[in-house]
Amino acid sequence: MLLPLKNFKIILGLCVGICILFMYISQSMQEGKILTIKTPRWLSAYRDPEFNNSMEGKNKTFTSIVEVNDALRLETKVRVLCWIMTSPKTLYKKCKAVKETWGKRCNKVLFFSSQTDANFPAIGLNVSEGRQHLTEKTMMAFTYIYHNHLNDADWFMKADDDTYVIVENLRYFLSSKNSSLPVYYGHWFKPFLKQGYYSGGAGYVLSKEALRRFGKFSNKSCVKAGHYEDVDLGRCMDKLGVLTGSSHDDQGRSRFHCFDPKTMLFRGFPSWYLEYDKYGAKKNNMSDYAISFHYIAPANMYLLDYYVYHLRPYGLYKRIHEAAHGKL
Ligand SMILES: *[C@@H]1O[C@H](CO)[C@@H](O)[C@H](O)[C@H]1NC(C)=O
Ligand SMILES: *[C@@H]1O[C@H](CO)[C@@H](O)[C@H](O)[C@H]1NC(C)=O
Ligand SMILES: *[C@@H]1O[C@H](CO)[C@@H](O)[C@H](O)[C@H]1NC(C)=O
Ligand SMILES: *[C@@H]1O[C@H](CO)[C@@H](O)[C@H](O)[C@H]1NC(C)=O
Ligand SMILES: *[C@@H]1O[C@H](CO)[C@@H](O)[C@H](O)[C@H]1NC(C)=O
Ligand SMILES: *[C@@H]1O[C@H](CO)[C@@H](O)[C@H](O)[C@H]1NC(C)=O
Repeated sequence: MLLPLKNFKIILGLCVGICILFMYISQSMQEGKILTIKTPRWLSAYRDPEFNNSMEGKNKTFTSIVEVNDALRLETKVRVLCWIMTSPKTLYKKCKAVKETWGKRCNKVLFFSSQTDANFPAIGLNVSEGRQHLTEKTMMAFTYIYHNHLNDADWFMKADDDTYVIVENLRYFLSSKNSSLPVYYGHWFKPFLKQGYYSGGAGYVLSKEALRRFGKFSNKSCVKAGHYEDVDLGRCMDKLGVLTGSSHDDQGRSRFHCFDPKTMLFRGFPSWYLEYDKYGAKKNNMSDYAISFHYIAPANMYLLDYYVYHLRPYGLYKRIHEAAHGKL
């Protein structure tokens, strides 16, 4: 049955009106939301003196130039093997971004999946895919690395395919640690084990001695499979006498992060985090030398790479830039 034309026009008019009203409301709600975001005070608090310092002191500039050379020095002094836990489904989506951004800065980077991919390349482990098999993947990956790459690095970093790592800062942190000691580091969680354990998503790094103990004794002391990869690995390390420790900087600011930078900055934490975080999610100021972030989508890996390695405020870091290009 056809509606009379007049009614049709009224209905059409109503529809358009409602649509416009709806768009207006959602727009103003969004604006309201943006307006309610509070600037994190500590960020602006520490930024200003930093700017001032870089402008004023020639010594500050000098220090920065030393830092440039230092990254190159640490590349051979603090060798880091990175391994990424992935799956055939996400290999060419997520790991491609890892490979093209932070992965290339590790002394060696390995991708572990349930299937071998000779082209990428990815190493296939004898495991089924799925969340419930993550422990198996980690245990087998460390076993593989122990048998094939123990002498290729001093430190062995596990990360997910949505973890972003600033490798120079990882080396800087590790440069004051001793890889001959049974230790490992990451975003410290406190439940389940007396010494705590580290978040799987933020990535964690084992010393050579920790990996050596894993290779020698894990068959006796550690589970081969389980549902909670990071807790299982944590329990394994605990049994092998591998110790946890703080990775905060000298101002008590965090370096490993199980969330993305935005969540850390605005403290948009889920409630479980308040109980899990070793420091009760209180000391959440991020270090200028932060090491890792989690939940980074592939596009955001390139974005972070741009922010960290390319974007410069003109006039503040000129000499660093020139030093990096060998002009000083
Ligand atoms: C920078 O810091 C110095 C002291 O270190 C101070 O005297 C000066 O006023 C500061 N400049 C600005 C622009 O804040
Ligand atoms: C920079 O610091 C060094 C020692 O740390 C000092 O010997 C030198 O005089 C300082 N240079 C300037 C320009 O302040
Ligand atoms: C893979 O695991 C299965 C089941 O545990 C086992 O039967 C098989 O021999 C393993 N294959 C390899 C190549 O290790
Ligand atoms: C590192 O630890 C080993 C084992 O305890 C020790 O022999 C070595 O002297 C330490 N190295 C440094 C630089 O402290
Ligand atoms: C544990 O034992 C299995 C079977 O003998 C072996 O394949 C594996 O390499 C051992 N684990 C380690 C870490 O060496
Ligand atoms: C974060 O840094 C600010 C500025 O330095 C400081 O006032 C504040 O106490 C810090 N917050 C925490 C929780 O450490």
